Amino acid sequence: MSFPKNFLWGGATAANQCEGGFDKDGRGLANVDVCPNGEDRLKVISGKMKMFDFDDKHYYPAKLGIDMYNHYKEDIKLFGEMGFKVYRLSIAWSRIFPNGDEKTPNEKGLLFYENIFKECHKYGIEPLVTITHFDCPMHLIKEYGGWRNRKLIDFYKNLCITLFNRYKGLVKYWITFNEINMILHLPFMGAGLYFEEGEDENKIKYQAAHNELVASALATKIAHEVDPNNRVGCMFAAGSTYPFNCKPENIWEALCKERKEYFFVDVQAQGKYPNYALKMLERNNCMPEIWEGDLQLLEKNTVDFVSFSYYNTNCINVDEQVEVTSGNLFASVKNPYLKYTDWGWSIDPLGLRITLNEVYDRYRKPLFIVENGIGAIDTINENGEIIDDYRINFHRDHIKAMKDAIEIDSVDLMGYTTWGCIDLVSASSGEMKKRYGFIYVDLDNEGKGSLKRTKKKSFDWYKKVIASNGEDLD
Ligand code: BG6
Repeated sequence: MSFPKNFLWGGATAANQCEGGFDKDGRGLANVDVCPNGEDRLKVISGKMKMFDFDDKHYYPAKLGIDMYNHYKEDIKLFGEMGFKVYRLSIAWSRIFPNGDEKTPNEKGLLFYENIFKECHKYGIEPLVTITHFDCPMHLIKEYGGWRNRKLIDFYKNLCITLFNRYKGLVKYWITFNEINMILHLPFMGAGLYFEEGEDENKIKYQAAHNELVASALATKIAHEVDPNNRVGCMFAAGSTYPFNCKPENIWEALCKERKEYFFVDVQAQGKYPNYALKMLERNNCMPEIWEGDLQLLEKNTVDFVSFSYYNTNCINVDEQVEVTSGNLFASVKNPYLKYTDWGWSIDPLGLRITLNEVYDRYRKPLFIVENGIGAIDTINENGEIIDDYRINFHRDHIKAMKDAIEIDSVDLMGYTTWGCIDLVSASSGEMKKRYGFIYVDLDNEGKGSLKRTKKKSFDWYKKVIASNGEDLD
């Protein structure tokens, strides 16, 4: 048997992309709420266009999500039917602390997640909780400037203390920040950063990164103190970067690109700023302000496991005459050996094995793939079915790659949670039609639809995969 007996099969979602109920039961406004769909989305999520509240010209998909706020029982029941061992979800920070800087939490928000966790346990599902999946209360952005401000460490600490104590015994797997390296790519969505004209964006991003790294180490420390059974992971957007060819400049650029993303995990898993990063920060005049005690805290509180999202690999070419395509993190050179999704993301199962090996060789900590999937347009046929063979093929090939990494390469892999196990709002585009789920949700890009849940063909397939612990992939 290649997958360990206790392998954690399951699915993943994020509060801002599925909950809705943005103003229910005392929840405060957050950065993720005010990201519209349509052509302005990219400008807003990257911190280039100021959107601190709703306006009449845009549609804001996170307000409704897929209304999991009112459907969570039905949804978790379906996850249970698929045999999930684990369900990755995130906390909406502003449900617990509406402004972010209060001393006392919002009981209704706490109760909402408590009910979710209890519901999971009813079906033998272990919750895997991302403390922040891009969420930052708007008040913390307006008042303090988001994660550029060191004060956020204390507010986040307060959130963590509250969560760890309240959910002791209900939750043992925690992730401190979703895709921490997203600060560099989509800073408003990733860290509540908006840039005024003339500001040094890089300096601000690396200060925010330092603040989050310290906050993450603090969270790890507190989680272990509150309950030694807690397991805390870091999380980054992964996907190896290939040199386009053997031109040494391309090899070098690929290495530099990877270091830029690995930097965060180097700190969280190895406990110190790597030398290449210190030099780079100095050279670019963006060395963050580091307080006394920070470095010791980072060193003493490394994570228990390294988790990551994997969608595609990237390709780099220093020469310009090449075709460019998109991807989860950044635009990349088109790789002629790969096929692409409808959204131009490369499909590269062997790339997952390569990434798993790279990450494991680098950190030697248990790994957890907490996002993987294909965003595709699903159609309902005349019999009301969704025959999503492309999704089945995608997951089958990626699971085979995981299997090889475990069986042949001896990578220590704890689990696999597929992204958007139920259809939800896309983070990058704000669309509903970019679907990842095994469960279809009747909702369109403008928020119209009955919200009815329907099992796709992939639902039964994944159920079989889990029941056979990854042996039956047909
Ligand atoms: C990751 C995020 O970047 O990729 C998710 O953690 C996101 O929030 C996922 O949804 C897929 O990206 P997209 O843009 O297709 O939703």
